[in-house]
Amino acid sequence: MSTLLYLECSPHAGHSLGARLARGVIDDITSRHPDVGVVTRSLVLDPLPPLSARYAQGITASALRDDEAFTCSEHLIDELERSEGLLISTPMHNFAVPAALKLWLDYVLRKDRSFKTTPQGKVGTLRDRPTLVLVRSGGPCTGENARQPDFLTPYLHYALSALGIGNVNFVYLPGLSPSEEDLELTRCALAAVPLL
Ligand SMILES: Cc1cc2nc3c(=O)[nH]c(=O)nc-3n(C[C@H](O)[C@H](O)[C@H](O)COP(=O)(O)O)c2cc1C
Repeated sequence: MSTLLYLECSPHAGHSLGARLARGVIDDITSRHPDVGVVTRSLVLDPLPPLSARYAQGITASALRDDEAFTCSEHLIDELERSEGLLISTPMHNFAVPAALKLWLDYVLRKDRSFKTTPQGKVGTLRDRPTLVLVRSGGPCTGENARQPDFLTPYLHYALSALGIGNVNFVYLPGLSPSEEDLELTRCALAAVPLL
């Protein structure tokens, strides 16, 4: 059975427009492939604990196996490893990823577990997999109409590639109340990305 991991990052959780569009992607996949399992991780409804001092020390000393933050990190990496596809619905917060998604990355990016350091830099140890990121923002953050920098895209690209995940597609939907036409264009863009 293939598994899709869905990360929901908006403070509005399942009520957010991004989450509703992502749910459409999931419904489409599961109607075409009823055997696909979907693991939903809401980083807002089920918030991750703040990083502990022992975890931060252990990250560098590689000696944190008895800490509960290690168990959390291990669980999240395991959950990611088991997925054949990754779907992320995230808002842009202050030109970058929201804190909840950053915290997930802080748990998932772990030296000598999900990446190794080499003379050439960090090399991910996880299998690559199709990944779709839906970015919601108040205003345009890409293209000629953008009046703000976009640190979200390059950061998330780099962080995922440090895990070994390079097959990443981004779809953007700006605007607090997008038009029906923009919604339909976004649905088409989402549907065009093969996730499994
Ligand atoms: C703390 C915070 C920071 C935000 N920063 C930005 C920003 O830098 N750029 C932007 O275009 N929108 C920003 N927004 C607006 C959100 O991106 C937008 O409301 C959200 O994407 C709506 O998505 P949703 O309906 O899927 O929850 C911010 C919203 C919040 C709450």
